[in-house]
Amino acid sequence: MRHLLDTRTLTRDEAILILDIAEDMSATQQREVKKLPTLRGKTIVNLFYEDSTRTRISFEAASKRLSADVINFSAKGSSVSKGESLKDTAQTLQAIGADGVVIRHPASGAPAMLASSGWIDAGVLNAGDGTHEHPTQALLDAFTMRRRLFGENSRGRDLDGISVVIVGDIMHSRVARSNLWLLKVLGAHVSFVAPETLLPYGTREWPVTIYHSLDAAIREANPDVIMLLRIQTERMHAAFFPNEREYARNWGLNDVRVAGLQDRTIIMHPGPMNRGLEISAGAADSARSTVLEQVANGVSVRMAALYLLLSGERGESA
Ligand code: CP
Repeated sequence: MRHLLDTRTLTRDEAILILDIAEDMSATQQREVKKLPTLRGKTIVNLFYEDSTRTRISFEAASKRLSADVINFSAKGSSVSKGESLKDTAQTLQAIGADGVVIRHPASGAPAMLASSGWIDAGVLNAGDGTHEHPTQALLDAFTMRRRLFGENSRGRDLDGISVVIVGDIMHSRVARSNLWLLKVLGAHVSFVAPETLLPYGTREWPVTIYHSLDAAIREANPDVIMLLRIQTERMHAAFFPNEREYARNWGLNDVRVAGLQDRTIIMHPGPMNRGLEISAGAADSARSTVLEQVANGVSVRMAALYLLLSGERGESA
């Protein structure tokens, strides 16, 4: 695997390989000596053109636990604010000898452009591009589902037959898209729940069941997993989102809805959360919630991705 740009082109075998290696990485994290020598001498650049808490610190922790050197680059405070192009920035990274570039960018397709540009030899990992994809988030979500639903000894298995209901701002969500493609290749049934204004044009051609009512989705899809998405108010104009109270009432996972879930149903959120809007504090902090497990699992999954891309010989593009 040379780059990790999306989940749409991952095969079932590639996805399961990443999840299984993440299990191995997780096992190393339980030991007293957490650090592996695997990427000693490699340089990984975190190239972030958008804000991030979880993804950035998780990639940094993953890189350091594999003994790589890490350089954190934020567009804010860099020469990007003076107008420097992605090409010139990439060539600067090439000149300092970057082996891996973890890129978050507001433009969908920026990581793919970097990977195919010839400006840089490094392996490219997409840490979220526009509304396109966020592949390591979907992989850590799948890892969390597999562990919670099937236990820690679930190496080699997929998510065949489970029901995942993804609720909220599908329109702006790269997490929803990456989860859909990955969950489908792993055999899960996926439902989206959103007001019509928060569904992207063409969603009905995707392999997903659409609901406008969260209560109907919970009743009919009988979910093993409910995943709430952050309402991305910064990307909206008023017509999308007339009233926060109305959204919370119709599409928010509140304490009453949590009380009506099947015992096995887990609650996921990629973070950051708008408590009281798409998820109540009671739901976010309940024993069903995997929010912090997702963050912890993210380090193992990113260690697995970095290992596959940067250790030894690199092969075909994912
Ligand atoms: N889930 C996620 O991508 O969070 P950050 O924006 O904090 O990285």
